[in-house]
Amino acid sequence: MHEHLNIAVFASGKGSNFKAILEAINAGRICNAKIVLVISNNSDAGALVTAREHHIPARHVSRKQFSTDDDFNAKLMSLLVGYRVNFIVLAGYMKKIDSKIVQSYKNRIINIHPALLPKFGGSGMYGIHVHEAVIASKENLSGASVHIVDEEYDRGPVVLQKTVAVDSTDTPESLAAKVLQLEHEIYPEAVRLFAEGRIKVIGKQVSIS
Ligand code: GRF
Repeated sequence: MHEHLNIAVFASGKGSNFKAILEAINAGRICNAKIVLVISNNSDAGALVTAREHHIPARHVSRKQFSTDDDFNAKLMSLLVGYRVNFIVLAGYMKKIDSKIVQSYKNRIINIHPALLPKFGGSGMYGIHVHEAVIASKENLSGASVHIVDEEYDRGPVVLQKTVAVDSTDTPESLAAKVLQLEHEIYPEAVRLFAEGRIKVIGKQVSIS
């Protein structure tokens, strides 16, 4: 039996990826996992509304509420420990996770990125900017990537990827919509694999059993 996942979701926006994972759990497509906490830096985040609708503890925690980084990160850690979180899912979370948290949850934090990492990743590559860059570079393929979070933005080893064709008629908005669909497929799939204990991360290598 694999360790039951007590998941904390970090989200800044709509939370459609959070919702896709929650629906997969509630539909029984993901077993051995439970979302026990949702944290957002944005008090208006749709993700907080969805969490509350599903009676999941939802907390607005923002760096602005604290005088120091240490106080902010201590608050995050106290919530994670308090809810016995053993796995973190970043779902459109626009802030960097402090290295102390990354180390406490080594290889237990994942993120979804709307491009085929390592291309079109790193600082500044978020939201519509990613799709603008993909179209500007005349790529004929794009997609979504689930990766392990480490100390550098979008640099952790890739767990799952799915590609989609970039058509000549695509705009950044139409490409974003196609990629978001893929995100909603591969993110729940990645959580399922972790919940089944089928993902091994050794160094920078990910193996799926
Ligand atoms: C997605 O496009 C994801 O790739 C990026 O932020 C967006 C999150 O959207 N990390 P949502 O809040 O999950 O709807």
